[in-house]
Amino acid sequence: MAELRELTGGRGPDVCIEAVGMEAHSPGVHGAYDQVKQQLRLQTDRPSAVREAIMACRKGGSVFVLGVFAAAVDKFPLGAMMNKGLTVRGAQVHGQRFMPRILEHMARGELTTEHLATHVMPLEQAPRGYQMFKDKEDGCVRAVFEP
Ligand SMILES: NC(=O)c1ccc[n+]([C@@H]2O[C@H](COP(=O)([O-])OP(=O)(O)OC[C@H]3O[C@@H](n4cnc5c(N)ncnc54)[C@H](O)[C@@H]3O)[C@@H](O)[C@H]2O)c1
Repeated sequence: MAELRELTGGRGPDVCIEAVGMEAHSPGVHGAYDQVKQQLRLQTDRPSAVREAIMACRKGGSVFVLGVFAAAVDKFPLGAMMNKGLTVRGAQVHGQRFMPRILEHMARGELTTEHLATHVMPLEQAPRGYQMFKDKEDGCVRAVFEP
């Protein structure tokens, strides 16, 4: 946060994009608070990156929540959001809408995706592939299954 302030002349960024989601890690008291509350099923998600984005954003700025959240969170800085006059938005990507455009870019060779398919395996190994993806085992970015 201090670095963002310094980079923006003490004002904070115009736009902050939260791209972490419900499994955020965070050191310190807030991190421990989130872990305990989540494990006791008293809150569903760990929103530390959302809190940081709201606190870091400049007055009148925008915060976009791209990371996925399931339900309710505690210690949402509603006061800072309101008093700074922030615009807060979130959304799931409209995959179907952008697919044709992305495929066109791929066909022209402007976008390459091969490097993302780190683990190509037979369909029968799908449970193992998903587990590797979840645990980020062996540098797994995406497991691709061949029928
Ligand atoms: N809205 C959408 O349409 C959409 C699309 C794709 C992915 N997502 C979501 O975006 C999120 C990120 O996806 P991903 O594939 O990049 O996950 P990822 O696990 O690869 O990346 C998350 C990153 O966040 C970092 N991180 C953890 N805690 C942090 C914190 N407190 N502050 C800053 N960084 C922190 C981790 O070190 C990691 O590098 C997930 O919640 C995913 O479900 C949303």
